[in-house]
Amino acid sequence: ETAATKTTAEDWQKVGTVAELDKTGQLLVENSPIGAVLVVGTSKEAENLTAVNPTCTHKGCTVEWKTDKDRFVCPCHDAIFTTEGKVNGGPAQKPLKTYLAKIESGSVLVKS
Ligand code: FES
Repeated sequence: ETAATKTTAEDWQKVGTVAELDKTGQLLVENSPIGAVLVVGTSKEAENLTAVNPTCTHKGCTVEWKTDKDRFVCPCHDAIFTTEGKVNGGPAQKPLKTYLAKIESGSVLVKS
């Protein structure tokens, strides 16, 4: 094993399986090694995977992904965020933290 592959293994964190993600098109993990993560998408369009820290930047509720709106919406005071985590409405001022996401060998991996 080379140093490069070791670094990759440390940077990318497994947060779930492809089967879990594909079931509903989203995967919420409260306690991943890099904190709370919400991955949106399916393995059919793996290049379009989106991953954010779902902790609302307003007062810390957990935002929900709304497929019909193509937005993250906070249930507490209706902050709205785009797939890139940018504020799109409501009281939040700061964007959601985003992560890189990919699928590898049946696992969903994210990286901050
Ligand atoms: Fe999310 Fe207030 S905590 S909008």
